[in-house]
Amino acid sequence: MNSSELKVEEISKNFSGLKAVDNVSFSLQTGEILGLIGPNGSGKTTIINMVTGLMKPTSGRILVDDRDLTRNKRHHFAREGLARTFQTIRLFKKMTVFENVEVSGVSMGKNRKEAAQEAYRLLEMFELSDYADRESGSLDHGNQRRIEIARALALDPKFLFLDEPAAGLNEEESDALLDMLKDFPGQMNLGLLIVDHDMRLIMRLCSKLHVLDHGQTIAEGLPSEIRKNAQVMEAYFGSKVGV
Ligand SMILES: Nc1ncnc2c1ncn2[C@@H]1O[C@H](COP(=O)(O)OP(=O)(O)OP(=O)(O)O)[C@@H](O)[C@H]1O
Ligand SMILES: [Mg+2]
Repeated sequence: MNSSELKVEEISKNFSGLKAVDNVSFSLQTGEILGLIGPNGSGKTTIINMVTGLMKPTSGRILVDDRDLTRNKRHHFAREGLARTFQTIRLFKKMTVFENVEVSGVSMGKNRKEAAQEAYRLLEMFELSDYADRESGSLDHGNQRRIEIARALALDPKFLFLDEPAAGLNEEESDALLDMLKDFPGQMNLGLLIVDHDMRLIMRLCSKLHVLDHGQTIAEGLPSEIRKNAQVMEAYFGSKVGV
């Protein structure tokens, strides 16, 4: 399998004086799961917005296999294999579960048959087959999250960014999500970046972590190293979470 590497080099984003993201660098290989964590407002979503082309960085570069995508148009990012889900679920609520996933494949230039086959495979993988013909807006929150992930995967990404996939899920649903997510980066040769406040999920799922505070990197490393890092504990976990 071909491996790919995403490199984010010293990216910053200023919003009228506010340094929402300040000189952040990281890399992500296919097959790897990186957790991007930090308190509210620390710049996590802004980073996903930049690496998927929704926002241009004020400075810095985004490269895939040493190709510089920074100034490319938004649709080029999807073509280069960078896909995402949103913090607030964005589905075509009136369309069926199946159609939501199928349309992604069609948008990537697949014919209807190929897109349909792939959609059924993804629905199976995310245990959504029983709901294929239901309106997606009628499903509960946990299932809508899964549809979003299945839909992003139908774009055949090399890198997938999940913005708080466990938000609003209970412990049982979060564990079920973990089971679905843990193997597919290896199986599908995909690099996964996951933002979440659910430390149980993050610590179990990720092979490495990147920690932000006020837009800046305050720590990077293995989950076991981050857990021991006093600055991270103070900035992020506060005194309430004993992870
Ligand atoms: N479009 C925008 N215009 C102005 N300020 C913005 C914009 N988007 C984000 N910000 C600000 O940038 C900072 C970082 O926001 P961001 O949404 O990236 O944080 P986050 O880490 O995703 O937070 P959360 O955990 O609450 O989702 C915040 O102070 C936010 O108010
Ligand atoms: Mg956010």
